[in-house]
This record gives sequence, C-alpha cells and structure tokens, in this order.
Amino acid sequence: MVYSSFLRPARGHVPAVIFLGICSATACSSEDASPPPPTTASGGITGTGGDGAGGSTGGTVEAAGGQGGSAMDPVERTSLPDLLSEAGLYEADMETLAPGVRPFRPQFQLWTDDAAKRRWIWLPEGEQIDTTDMEYWQYPIGTRLYKEFVRDGVRVETRVIEKRPNGGWWMLAYQWREDQTDADAVPEGVNDASGTPHDIPSEEQCQTCHLRMPDKALGFSAIQLAHTTEPDDPTEWTLTRLAAEGRLTTTPPTIQLPGDETDRQVLGYLHGNCGHCHHPRSSVNSRVDLRLWLRTDALDSVEGTPTYETTVGVGLDLPEDGPPGPTVRIVPGDPAASALFVRMDSRGPEYQMPPLGTEDVDPTARALLETWIQSLTP
Ligand code: HEC
Ligand code: HEC
Repeated sequence: MVYSSFLRPARGHVPAVIFLGICSATACSSEDASPPPPTTASGGITGTGGDGAGGSTGGTVEAAGGQGGSAMDPVERTSLPDLLSEAGLYEADMETLAPGVRPFRPQFQLWTDDAAKRRWIWLPEGEQIDTTDMEYWQYPIGTRLYKEFVRDGVRVETRVIEKRPNGGWWMLAYQWREDQTDADAVPEGVNDASGTPHDIPSEEQCQTCHLRMPDKALGFSAIQLAHTTEPDDPTEWTLTRLAAEGRLTTTPPTIQLPGDETDRQVLGYLHGNCGHCHHPRSSVNSRVDLRLWLRTDALDSVEGTPTYETTVGVGLDLPEDGPPGPTVRIVPGDPAASALFVRMDSRGPEYQMPPLGTEDVDPTARALLETWIQSLTP
C-alpha cells in the first residue's frame, strides 16, 4: 500500500484526522477530506463521563438510560485525548464501563490473525441512528466506538473512533501499558506491540479500511447485528434491541442469510472482511465492480446476492493487477482458477486480499471458501 503523506503536529495533542485524500495502491478517496478545526485547546478533555451518582453502574441498561450520559462533549474538543483513561470508555478503575457504554458483537468478524477482540459503543443519549438507508447507517454526532485486542489474556491495544461535529471521524489506537493501568495514543502505529505478534495500525491505515463507507463504523450495522446474544448479556446491543429501545429511525427487516450453513458462512465472511471496500459506494468500486457487502433487501437466495452476482462466472476488471493465471473471480468447481480464492489465499504486498491488517491466511475461511467453490455447479 502507498499512503499519501501526512503532516503531523508535534506530539502531545494529536488531531486524529486525515485531511488529505487516502490512496491505496490503486484507488484514491477524497471522502472526509475536510480539514480539522483549528487546534486551540491544549489537549485532552476533562471528566470521564457521568457524575458520582452514575458511579459504578456503568455498562448496565439502567446506566445507559440514566442521566448524565458522558461528559465527553464532542463539540468542545479538537481531537481524541492522549490517554485511553480520558476517552470515555472506562471508569477510573479502567475495568468498569462508563455510563451508557454498551457492548456489541458483529456476527461476522474481521480476521486479524486470531487476536481476541471486544467491542463497545457509546450512543449519545436519546439520539437515533438514521437507518433510512438500511445498508449504510448514519450515526449521531458524538457517537464513539471502541475495539480492544487481547493477546494471551493481556490487553494490548484499544481502538477508538468518534464522530465529530462536522460529520467526519477521529480514529486512534491506544497501546496498553505493561501494568495495564492506562493506554497511550500511538498515531504512528506499532509493529509487534508489547512483545506480541500483534501490529497496531497507524491512523492512515485505519482510514484505508474505514473511510470507504459513507459513515465510518463497519461492524455496527444491520446484518452484523442481526443475531441473538450468546451467552445472553442484556446490555449488549443487537438489531432487535436497538429497534425495541427506539434507537433506529426505521424498523429493520427480518434478516436471515440465504442457503445452507456453508453458504451463510461464506457470504457473511466476505461481507465482514471484504465488503467495507467492495461495495457500490466505495471509492474502490469505480475501478473494480465487485460487491461483497450484502444487502438486507437481497437475501432471498444465494444467487440473488450481490456477492454471487458479481463473482460467480464473472471475469476480472483488473486481470493485470492480480496473480498470473486466473481471469475469472470465481470458477464454479475450481478454486485454483478462481481469482477471489487465490487472492484470499495469498499473503505479501502483491495480491493479498484484504490488502492490509493480516499477515496469515485465515485457515478456517480458506477451507470454507474452497468447499463452497467446489460445491458450485457450472
Ligand atoms: C484491515 C482493515 C481495518 C483496519 C486497518 C482498521 N480497521 Fe477498524 N474495523 C475493521 C472492520 C472490518 C471492522 C468491523 C468488523 C470487526 O470488528 O471485526 C472494524 C471495527 C472497528 C471498530 C468497532 C466499530 C466498528 O466500526 O465496527 C473500531 C472502534 C475500529 N475498527 C477502529 C479502528 C482504528 C482506530 C483503526 C486504526 C488504528 C482501525 N480500526 C483499523 C477494519 C479495519
Ligand atoms: C482495504 C480495501 C480492500 C479490502 C478490505 C479488500 N479489498 Fe479486494 N481490492 C481492493 C482494491 C483497491 C482492489 C483493486 C486493486 C487490485 O486489484 O489489487 C481490489 C481487488 C480485488 C479483486 C480483483 C477484482 C478484479 O476484478 O480485478 C478481488 C478478487 C478482490 N479484491 C477480493 C477481495 C476479497 C476476497 C477480500 C476480502 C477477503 C477483499 N478483496 C478485501 C481493496 C480491498
């Protein structure tokens, strides 16, 4: 990947905003290219949400509806804070969730070389997600999402994104200190963080994946949240709970992926791992009309999904960019001749898909896709 150059102010107060277009090896995006507001504050924010009364009940449904919400006022700040302890996720103990912060779980997770992950969201109190377009949600200003990476039982990294008053997003990763008391902003990213094989992405890399959606959250979306919680956690946000608690502007349809278990797993995997770049409103789509982001209104049959329609028996748009050999995205019955399989099965800068965020082929997904392609009849 080739990234555009990025001017970074002196360390200490880092506007986690990319204001130049983002370019991958082949595609550039000018989305979200508005400059950040002038940096006037001296950094950080005051308070971590709620007041004494909110106290240690953070993370419960009651707390979510309670008074106070979060004191992290997005309008007052010019960037995300330097310390995770100030980013509105935890109470002072760095374990208890702050009032209003609730967990969620996308049913089809991004493969990141097997790291264990947890995710949370703080939705501004009383506000709704605009779901007029069920495929591309628009989140309220001030929405914050968090994703934590654990290796060998130790917290290594926590990522934060927050929707800014101008509609853009801040994105930043924090690296946990060895004593686990706090985590520090690492805008440049860190390779092999904290003695683990885990790489923390830089801000530019966050944008490479997140910028290609109209609004920038990826896993907090209709299809991803259309599951029941297992084991049951009453605080966890699912599609059903969001609708029941009045947090969506429209009623979501019933979502059931088509086909047998293998079909569903393959469609879901490609949705969660590839769909955020390969969908009709992505900058990538102007060069490659490949649609792996499922639509809630096209789930009647496997053959009717955009995934099937734009892959099975469909020739490549950019044969010269891919590995030598395959000229078709998916050849029924023949994984080795299918560019989609070959690229998912490769690692290294040349052909790998997805192009970043992983160094190891996902063995489960590889086997799944192989089985699926073999089962397709010409
Ligand atoms: C390789 C692509 C990729 C990169 C790089 C990446 N993300 Fe993500 N991120 C995703 C995908 C896909 C999801 C949703 C699926 C999941 O969570 O497993 C996600 C989920 C998240 C979430 C949970 C909310 C949501 O959007 O679902 C946060 C927070 C987040 N990322 C922050 C970041 C930050 C901050 C960075 C950079 C430090 C970053 N991400 C880098 C692809 C990426
Ligand atoms: C971060 C964005 C991004 C993600 C995530 C991503 N791709 Fe891509 N993909 C691209 C870009 C950009 C191209 C065009 C450049 C190239 O061919 O390398 C491309 C090209 C392709 C092509 C060639 C299409 C053609 O007609 O020439 C295939 C096949 C493909 N991707 C499959 C996948 C699969 C499968 C996944 C998930 C496992 C995935 N991609 C995830 C950005 C992405």
